[in-house]
Amino acid sequence: MESKMRRAEESSPFRKPFSMAAAPLRFRGMPRRSRFLVYGLVFISFLYLIPRMHLGMGGTLLFFLISPEAAGPYGGGHKVDILRYVDPLIGTTNGGHVFPGASLPYGMAKAVADTNSHAENAAGFVSDNSEILGFSHMHDSGTGGQPSMGNFPLFVHAGCPEDDHKQCVYSLMDRPIARVNGSAFAAPGYFSLNLTNHVRAEMTVTEHTALYRFSFPGNDTLTLKSDDPLRKKDVDITYSPIILVDLVDLMNSRSTGGIQVYNHSGRIVGEGQYQPSFGAGRYNAFFCADFKGAAIRKTGTFISNNATEGVNFLDGVGNGFYIPSGSAGAWIQFEKPVENNHEIMARVGVSFISVDQACDNAEREIADYNFERVESQARKEWRKKLEVVEVDGTGVSEDMLTTFWSGLYRTLLSPQNYTGENQLWNNSTEPYFDSFYCIWDSFRAQHPLLTIIDPPAQTDMIRALIDIYRHEGKLPDCRMSFSKGYTQGGSNADIVLADAFVKNLTDNIDWDTAYKAVLSDAEEEPQMWGVEGRGNLESWHKLGYIPWDDIDTNGTGPMSRSISRGVEYAYDDFAISLLASGLGHDADAKKYHQRGSNWRNYWNPEQADLYREDPDGPVLKTKFKGFMQPRKLDGSFRYENTRACSPVHNMHICYYDTHLSSYEGSPWLYSFFVPQDMDSLITLMGGPDAFVERLNYFHTSGISYMGNEQGFLPVFQFHYAGRPAISSYWARSYIPSLFNSSVNGIPGNDDCAMGAFSAFAMMGFFPVAGQDVYLLTPPFFREVKIKAKSGGNKWAVIRVKNFDPEGRRIYIQSATLNGRRYTRNWITHEFFIKGGILEFVVGEEEGKEWGRGEEGRPPSWYGDEDFGDWDGNKGVEGVDAEEEERQAGRRGR
Ligand SMILES: *[C@@H]1O[C@H](CO)[C@@H](O)[C@H](O)[C@H]1NC(C)=O
Ligand SMILES: *[C@@H]1O[C@H](CO)[C@@H](O)[C@H](O)[C@H]1NC(C)=O
Ligand SMILES: *[C@@H]1O[C@H](CO)[C@@H](O)[C@H](O)[C@H]1NC(C)=O
Ligand SMILES: *[C@@H]1O[C@H](CO)[C@@H](O)[C@H](O)[C@H]1NC(C)=O
Ligand SMILES: *[C@@H]1O[C@H](CO)[C@@H](O)[C@H](O)[C@H]1NC(C)=O
Ligand SMILES: *[C@@H]1O[C@H](CO)[C@@H](O)[C@H](O)[C@H]1NC(C)=O
Ligand SMILES: *[C@@H]1O[C@H](CO)[C@@H](O)[C@H](O)[C@H]1NC(C)=O
Ligand SMILES: *[C@@H]1O[C@H](CO)[C@@H](O)[C@H](O)[C@H]1NC(C)=O
Ligand SMILES: *[C@@H]1O[C@H](CO)[C@@H](O)[C@H](O)[C@H]1NC(C)=O
Repeated sequence: MESKMRRAEESSPFRKPFSMAAAPLRFRGMPRRSRFLVYGLVFISFLYLIPRMHLGMGGTLLFFLISPEAAGPYGGGHKVDILRYVDPLIGTTNGGHVFPGASLPYGMAKAVADTNSHAENAAGFVSDNSEILGFSHMHDSGTGGQPSMGNFPLFVHAGCPEDDHKQCVYSLMDRPIARVNGSAFAAPGYFSLNLTNHVRAEMTVTEHTALYRFSFPGNDTLTLKSDDPLRKKDVDITYSPIILVDLVDLMNSRSTGGIQVYNHSGRIVGEGQYQPSFGAGRYNAFFCADFKGAAIRKTGTFISNNATEGVNFLDGVGNGFYIPSGSAGAWIQFEKPVENNHEIMARVGVSFISVDQACDNAEREIADYNFERVESQARKEWRKKLEVVEVDGTGVSEDMLTTFWSGLYRTLLSPQNYTGENQLWNNSTEPYFDSFYCIWDSFRAQHPLLTIIDPPAQTDMIRALIDIYRHEGKLPDCRMSFSKGYTQGGSNADIVLADAFVKNLTDNIDWDTAYKAVLSDAEEEPQMWGVEGRGNLESWHKLGYIPWDDIDTNGTGPMSRSISRGVEYAYDDFAISLLASGLGHDADAKKYHQRGSNWRNYWNPEQADLYREDPDGPVLKTKFKGFMQPRKLDGSFRYENTRACSPVHNMHICYYDTHLSSYEGSPWLYSFFVPQDMDSLITLMGGPDAFVERLNYFHTSGISYMGNEQGFLPVFQFHYAGRPAISSYWARSYIPSLFNSSVNGIPGNDDCAMGAFSAFAMMGFFPVAGQDVYLLTPPFFREVKIKAKSGGNKWAVIRVKNFDPEGRRIYIQSATLNGRRYTRNWITHEFFIKGGILEFVVGEEEGKEWGRGEEGRPPSWYGDEDFGDWDGNKGVEGVDAEEEERQAGRRGR
């Protein structure tokens, strides 16, 4: 046992500062999600005819008001700790990929038990029956690529057979052990799990340090039960715990690494070089582990299952053929823990700079090994973040409250704050955030939510993005582990910056450099536009679209996805025009505003919606005509199945390596992505009634998919046709059917964004990211209060006057803002800056007036004058009817 902290010894090879070896860029396709799709919302057509819906109320009626421990402005009532309504295990199965372990808001240390569930363990832990590989200290939450990080896992044996350390298993291939069913427990800042090898593990964290408490039954002899009688039999082990640290990471990507165990102090330090989970390049990571609670008996290292006592140092260990498992590390065998408490504490500091910094982090953040203190501090930080929102939970089910608060909580897990841990440049005083994973997902709801509930953090993230541009020459579209992540569509950091700008985030943001960054996205094509910026820019500038058969001599990247990239480039350019006009660059503002209308070049007014009900049946046609379609260099359109990449047709052929024109979504879906000019889109679709019919069909036919972030805005776009009630209907349909408090209560990868969708929808407003516009629907609570940014005790309050906890009255009939009649179906950010009271009267039927007239609808930023010389009909005849017929029913895999 050793609680005295020692520095890594002078002789340690790990004292040298890290230098990044030149790492070749390389592409890897994103793995297909192997999970089952939730196909259908089996919903009736024309749902607004059936205005009733059951919200699954019932549960406990809460007579108290929900607010954090401290007295809230509601006064009176019981005070309930809101953390009680945070269940981090939501979304830990069925593709949610949520990180359920111990973390602080934006924390770098993220400790959890890692499982070996293939294709599901992107964030380490999965709520299934898979085995446990160990306990590791860094993760990403909710992502869709390979599993992230998970470096340096600890694994614990209560003892070895015949008290012989050589008879214990060390390798990743052999050590996985079943959990005790039902033993996983998670709360903000805390995670625990029992293993069937008689080890119980609990963990909590500070910013850069994980603290584990491993406990044992205390019996001198324990039996390891085997569930496979053919291969193994029960064996007895002798109580004398072994803790090993392995240099592996979750995707087994280590190219080199080293480790040292100090046999006096029991300190173990090490480093490794690894690959990012959805990007190009490599990163280095470092750790420093100390133990407390038992005397050291033996130390050593291991390679695969070969554990050697007294060899306390390994270096240059990649995961080449001589270590097929990738496992190599160090171990300590302890005497029985002292004082009969049968616990050993393990404290693991992590760093991206050096072993010394990892040790410093650990010593500074957790000098006392006091688990309860660290956990309570973590809970305090979570409360501080969440208490800027209060909801009146009267009459609302516990499930709905848990859905709401857990969604808000998940929004704050990432991007991660690596300030002070930046291994790429140290000549900057700007904050450094990483794990923008990916902006393609997070620009739509997560960043707008952070702008409301945590503007200082959003401000720091904006500064970090700008600093990444300064040092790397481009804004990221996706970023993790100090690496450039793969770009999925446009350069959507442009939208994140515009959103922050129009919402007046200013503190220390260098908007002039921000402006250069977005101009670079718009004007300068990088050589590798698969990891930054945009591609096909010459054509984008000249022709106003990305030709399906374009020849791009300026750079390389995934050449497909011309529709989805095109509509996103157009919106990015629109976002840039907002920045330009706000910063006084009038000529630019005009130019980018004009490019913002380029979406229209994809509109093929003649394109029909063709499909087959069964593969050999006839080609059928819906009444909907006019879709975004790929376009060739000569201006003619090319047919692409309007439903491809939707749950009803070939859902799984549009991931990263897709050859189709739309990415992870159908032309049907992308035909709605015109947030800058919904008026023109509605006109093209045949006017408000036809638009509403089409958007409803999108939701009822199964073409809509809520497991991906592009699905969010179409829930609310009925507002643009003056039908906000239908938006409310759909929000109430997807929550709680697809967004709820069960372990599979998220319909797709969380991306720290799914929770932002449910949180916004339940609070009663949804952002049109990039614009100063929030679309209004009735909140799921009697009252929602959000601390106003202007300070003092001001709140932005949304109140439902005749709230119906049964969820029948969900349609706004009339509204007032600060006592005055309010007829718009949208508000601006000013409400959240200044505070105020927005009050709704709701009814069981769609309201007759509120938000329905032209003047009540959200802004469209284009008029007829913007389309004077539009030649979108050019080449319509070029569509190949046979190709149409052939593709209409092409079978999925
Ligand atoms: C856990 O439960 C699953 C069935 O749900 C079962 O297959 C497995 O053996 C159980 N594991 C243990 C360790 O009891
Ligand atoms: C986990 O282990 C602890 C300590 O032995 C015990 O108190 C607890 O009941 C166990 N939990 C489960 C679900 O088995
Ligand atoms: C430990 O010993 C106690 C007392 O003999 C016994 O009841 C218990 O089942 C043992 N626990 C284990 C895990 O073997
Ligand atoms: C510690 O390890 C060194 C070599 O690394 C060895 O010389 C020394 O005897 C060991 N001490 C103990 C107490 O095991
Ligand atoms: C185990 O490792 C030791 C020390 O590295 C080495 O001498 C020995 O040959 C290895 N044994 C096997 C079976 O690989
Ligand atoms: C930071 O240092 C790097 C070299 O390490 C240099 O290329 C870069 O220009 C510097 N950046 C700033 C903003 O000073
Ligand atoms: C990020 O981390 C730094 C260093 O620990 C800290 O000073 C800063 O407040 C953090 N920022 C946020 C938004 O949490
Ligand atoms: C493409 O490359 C040419 C030649 O180097 C250059 O002049 C032009 O600016 C580049 N275009 C873009 C959009 O980057
Ligand atoms: C942002 O600031 C500008 C200029 O001070 C002001 O006109 C605008 O109303 C502000 N917007 C918000 C959302 O507060």
